[in-house]
Amino acid sequence: MTAANIIEVHNLTKVFAKRKNSPVRALNGISFNVEKGQIFGLLGPNGAGKSTAIKILTTLLSPTSGTAIVGGYDVVSHGNEVRKTICAVVQENAIELYLSVRNNFRSFGKFHGSSAVEIDKQIDHVSELFNLREFLNEAGVDLSGGMKRRVQVAKMFLIDKPVVFLDEATTGMDTFNKRTTIEAIREESHKGRTILLTTHLLDEAEALCDAVAIINHGVMLAQGCIEEVKSMGIQLYTVTITCRPDFTEIRRWLEMKNPVSIEQTQGTFAVSVTTEEQALDIINTARLKNVLLQFEVSRASLEDTFVELIDKKTGVST
Ligand SMILES: Nc1ncnc2c1ncn2[C@@H]1O[C@H](COP(=O)(O)OP(=O)(O)OP(=O)(O)O)[C@@H](O)[C@H]1O
Ligand SMILES: [Mg+2]
Repeated sequence: MTAANIIEVHNLTKVFAKRKNSPVRALNGISFNVEKGQIFGLLGPNGAGKSTAIKILTTLLSPTSGTAIVGGYDVVSHGNEVRKTICAVVQENAIELYLSVRNNFRSFGKFHGSSAVEIDKQIDHVSELFNLREFLNEAGVDLSGGMKRRVQVAKMFLIDKPVVFLDEATTGMDTFNKRTTIEAIREESHKGRTILLTTHLLDEAEALCDAVAIINHGVMLAQGCIEEVKSMGIQLYTVTITCRPDFTEIRRWLEMKNPVSIEQTQGTFAVSVTTEEQALDIINTARLKNVLLQFEVSRASLEDTFVELIDKKTGVST
């Protein structure tokens, strides 16, 4: 392990034997490294192998072959040491329904060996960070699904573990809840913790991750920082254009430009094209027609790249 890498995954494979059907190759030789202090996103559509990878890295499953090192320890031969280094939110919800949020936090802290004073200090910090103060006395059973999830993620930051795994942390959260949670995760990462999260929500990954790996069918499709991964997809340019309302044939005119897609929001059109020339042609022609009110050109989002990579390399779309 190099000093900078806190997680090193090499050629990791997991095959699930099925009694009647043929075995499932959930991971097919994936390799990636996560640097200390990074927020690293493991991305992929349903069934890609994300949870399987997290389960191996958190010692809940053993790999069929390949190696995974977490915090300097091999997950197979030094499971105990790995478990001391990490904490994890698994995809399934795990909160004590009949305990209050505060007591959920206390029992978690106690389980991890913190003193009562320490735990209460941390509860103070975490409930502030995750905006949970007013929920501390609520029983788990009375919380909405999204709030249960927020409590579960918050719990991970009660204890000081260098590596945090979050499998689909924001599942079921509304936009406001998600934003609070994402901001809290980001703030915690600034303290030097390494966070490995999985998501199929690309806007979330784009907002949060320093580096990402995209997998599908257990195979690595692309990895690197967001910009690097974006540049691996085809280039897409999105022209967002608003024209004079009396230019009624705008949609038909845009369709003639062979765009990848057109999305309309009232009088504004977001047109995705594959070349810079196409993007400029749309703007220039609209300008010459004297109908252009407003325009903006942007590069592809991670979402476009993700769909494109998955389509291109595996023929399967999300
Ligand atoms: N315990 C298991 N036994 C058999 N097959 C399994 C098992 N766990 C996962 N799989 C299979 O392995 C593949 C990868 O599953 P995994 O749960 O890792 O995907 P995922 O990327 O986390 O998907 P999601 O976004 O739906 O959570 C799937 O085909 C799944 O059916
Ligand atoms: Mg999963």
